[in-house]
Amino acid sequence: MPTKLGIIGGGVMGEALLSCLLSKGMYAPDSIMVSDLSHERRQLLTEQYAIHTTHSNREVIAEADTIVLAVKPQVFDSVMRDFSGATVSEPPLVISILAGVALSRLEKAVPGWPVIRAMPNTPATVGCGMTAIAVGSRALSEHMELAHRLFSAVGEVVQLTEPLLDGVTGLSGSGPAYVAIVIEALADGGVASGLSRATANKLALQTVLGTAQLLQNTGMHPAVLKDRVTSPGGTTISGIACLEELGLRSALIEAVRAASSRSRELGKASN
Ligand SMILES: NC(=O)c1ccc[n+]([C@@H]2O[C@H](COP(=O)([O-])OP(=O)(O)OC[C@H]3O[C@@H](n4cnc5c(N)ncnc54)[C@H](OP(=O)(O)O)[C@@H]3O)[C@@H](O)[C@H]2O)c1
Repeated sequence: MPTKLGIIGGGVMGEALLSCLLSKGMYAPDSIMVSDLSHERRQLLTEQYAIHTTHSNREVIAEADTIVLAVKPQVFDSVMRDFSGATVSEPPLVISILAGVALSRLEKAVPGWPVIRAMPNTPATVGCGMTAIAVGSRALSEHMELAHRLFSAVGEVVQLTEPLLDGVTGLSGSGPAYVAIVIEALADGGVASGLSRATANKLALQTVLGTAQLLQNTGMHPAVLKDRVTSPGGTTISGIACLEELGLRSALIEAVRAASSRSRELGKASN
């Protein structure tokens, strides 16, 4: 890994990346620096991870060879003003995780610098994220590989072209909310069938987790697993018939499409 990683914005996502990179030994504490406006955040990150923190984004820009932008999209313009006039011998790689900020806007803010756009999701905060990355016109294969390795610290990574990031937003970005609703609804069904709330929650959560793990570990197609647990005239086929009648499958398809299309609209408005 390169020598110095700078993270601008030490909030939820900045800390998730920081903590996983350190715990996996991908960076040493003295190779990571974080800038954040909040004194409390800086103090907490320094105490917890023994890293250098600063209030100055310019210090990070001057010293890091890879910079992760992890602030809210609303402060993008003000943060990018800190980049103007920066004197660097070799332009650092800038990786932005800001939702909805296009590569063209990033490249305009740091002309001539290599940039990459990454879109992680909330499970990254527990190291089980899904990140999609799209590379800018100046990024080389070594930059792409570096971004890939960085985000593999917080889960799985795929590389896509930028237009597909709206679909990513609709699926893996918004997906944790859909899955949370599915888990909640399964538990409600358990309670309706006489289970205590605590037992129903535990069963619902472990069923979703275990099924995902089984599919991932075996590489089995979901339809094959569904067929395996569906015996003729049995309980599961009765449940599935109900799901099909009430439209779970098409509801999820439409939810992903609606969220993707909303992402496209918001992107057009803000870039
Ligand atoms: N959270 C997620 O699950 C998730 C998933 C995918 C993508 N993202 C993207 O990740 C980015 C960060 O999200 P987050 O949830 O980590 O936000 P967050 O917790 O609010 O973290 C942002 C941090 O940046 C600090 N900050 C604000 N202005 C700054 C400046 N000018 N210079 C340096 N630091 C500054 C904030 O301090 P103050 O609080 O004092 O303002 C805060 O500590 C967002 O753009 C979001 O779109 C988040």
